[in-house]
Amino acid sequence: MTYRYLLTRSDGPIEHLTLNRPDVRNAFNADVIAELTSWAADVGARAGAVRAVVIAGAGKVFCAGADAAWLEQSARYSQDDNVRDATATSQMFRAIDELPMPVIGRVHGAAIGGGIGLAAVCDVVVAAEDAVFGFTEVKLGIIPAVISQFVLPKIGPSAARELFVTGARFPAARAYKIDLVHAVVPEADLDTTIGRYVTEILASGPEAIAAAKKLIRDVWASRAGEVTALTAQALASRRVSAEGQEGLRAFLEKRKPRWSA
Ligand code: COA
Repeated sequence: MTYRYLLTRSDGPIEHLTLNRPDVRNAFNADVIAELTSWAADVGARAGAVRAVVIAGAGKVFCAGADAAWLEQSARYSQDDNVRDATATSQMFRAIDELPMPVIGRVHGAAIGGGIGLAAVCDVVVAAEDAVFGFTEVKLGIIPAVISQFVLPKIGPSAARELFVTGARFPAARAYKIDLVHAVVPEADLDTTIGRYVTEILASGPEAIAAAKKLIRDVWASRAGEVTALTAQALASRRVSAEGQEGLRAFLEKRKPRWSA
């Protein structure tokens, strides 16, 4: 597939996606959102062949969030049109959030507003030590509405209350402290660090990884009383699966499982 605002590259089982609107710091508008949504559907359909995804930004920063010029035009549209736009944005984030393979975010320069939303739908986020973050929406008189459903489970309400109401920019060290990012390294070391995560992922069962991702979503969304049954069912299915049996047998036979790269 070819895109106007996205660069894609396959490196064996690793899919690289680069947001490519550097003139506006990879801000996203309706076209970028539509492209990201179809890209996610395409890569999701290639699960198995694609075993991890790395999302990055072209140019100086990872992503400056929603395109302010696009948002400003909202006043010319009806409430229904604006709700439709926001819903499409939600669907884009959800499509990436629910990809069956691990998604790694490569954050350099800045991740602001929706750019943090994009980081929040990644399973692993590696950030450059000089990267800047911020939920700056209130500075523009708007709110981090769509992204909140993905950001809150990661950083919790306490950090969100401070950061959403101040709109203050904060450094990578703080993003690490609130669990938005998982590793902070010099920018020159981003790819080596990502490579280490990829090595771990390729040594793990791809179906088990997909099941683990779904498990987290399901447990998070379920009520206390439902969790015992849900987790018991999930584990029972994995134990008897071909991949589960292969992994357990390989361990007992002191050999690498078939999926190991
Ligand atoms: N929407 C639209 N245009 C944006 C943008 C956004 N979210 N973020 C940056 N741009 C544009 C700037 O207007 C500027 O355009 P110009 O060259 O025509 O003047 C260009 O991108 C470069 O921006 P600049 O601020 O000079 O880049 P920088 O590298 O110094 O800083 C950021 C990068 C991301 C830190 C900074 O651009 C920024 O903070 N942007 C605002 C992000 C924001 O508030 N997002 C929330 C949206 S809800």
